[in-house]
Amino acid sequence: MRHFLWLIDYSKKEIKEIIELGFKIKKETKNKIFKPYLKYKQLAMIFEKSSTRTRVSFEVGINQLGGNGIFLSSRDIQLGRGEPVKDTARVISSMVDLIMIRTFGQDRLEEFAKYSRVPVINGLTDLCHPVQLLADLMTMIEFKKFDFENPKKTIVAYIGDGNNMANSWAILASKLGFELRIATPKGYEIDEEIKNKALLIAKESGAKLIFTNDPKEAVKDADVVTTDTWVSMGQEDEKEKRVRDFKGFEVDSELMSLAKKDALFLHCLPAYRGYEVSEEVFEKHSKEIFQEAENRLHAQKGLMVWLMRNL
Ligand code: CP
Ligand code: NVA
Repeated sequence: MRHFLWLIDYSKKEIKEIIELGFKIKKETKNKIFKPYLKYKQLAMIFEKSSTRTRVSFEVGINQLGGNGIFLSSRDIQLGRGEPVKDTARVISSMVDLIMIRTFGQDRLEEFAKYSRVPVINGLTDLCHPVQLLADLMTMIEFKKFDFENPKKTIVAYIGDGNNMANSWAILASKLGFELRIATPKGYEIDEEIKNKALLIAKESGAKLIFTNDPKEAVKDADVVTTDTWVSMGQEDEKEKRVRDFKGFEVDSELMSLAKKDALFLHCLPAYRGYEVSEEVFEKHSKEIFQEAENRLHAQKGLMVWLMRNL
């Protein structure tokens, strides 16, 4: 039995298998073929933070696969009133086949997984957002910006906060072997432990990881430019300071003009125009952004089928 807690636990080969399964099921779905890969399987979805995409994509995904999704908000279940994680994990995993959790600390997710009898999927923590990266990777492949056989041809620039998305990009790049440049303001760099782990893995894969405080340096000739909100869930009180500190880090047309002419712009969403991205850049790139959002559904169907394949 495997959990999907962060991409560090997954090899390039496994990531490729999940993505390929996602593509296969996407093609079937587009042709209105709904094979019951997960017939009667029950997916519990625990949310300790808000969500639009993650909730809809997992719920629709499991239903289209012939199973059933159960939405559990921590506002409504006993977990939110202090029932221990390890008890919640033992109870829920005795009744369902698969669990997705969106929570705060990675340690909370890991504790849940430790006590769960069924696979646990990370639906976002403060540390990382691996299911989002599966969708991002699928989108890069569809727009011919990434090829598993030629990873070194791809340059991705991540501009903004060294948050869960930036951490996840660093792990993905190091695993797959592409070039990633992360530009953050001083004091907002990515998690030090993740950085060191990614640098170590990069040595084996040949990935190039560059960390800078200069967005222009990061974006130069990039194939893909990406960003994320400056104020993640749980950081609402820091908004004023963050908006001040992130001055100069908005992805606007001037910054995008430094990337390759046909560069993609990706955003995990929700997007805040006038902060991490300008309205102009967002609308110009809305095709790939919303394809990326839709790919959450397809990539996660691939992931769920992959995790359940021998169970
Ligand atoms: N990108 C993402 O995870 O969106 P939600 O917060 O809406 O789930
Ligand atoms: N960094 C953001 C991602 C939202 C999908 C957050 O954690 O709120």
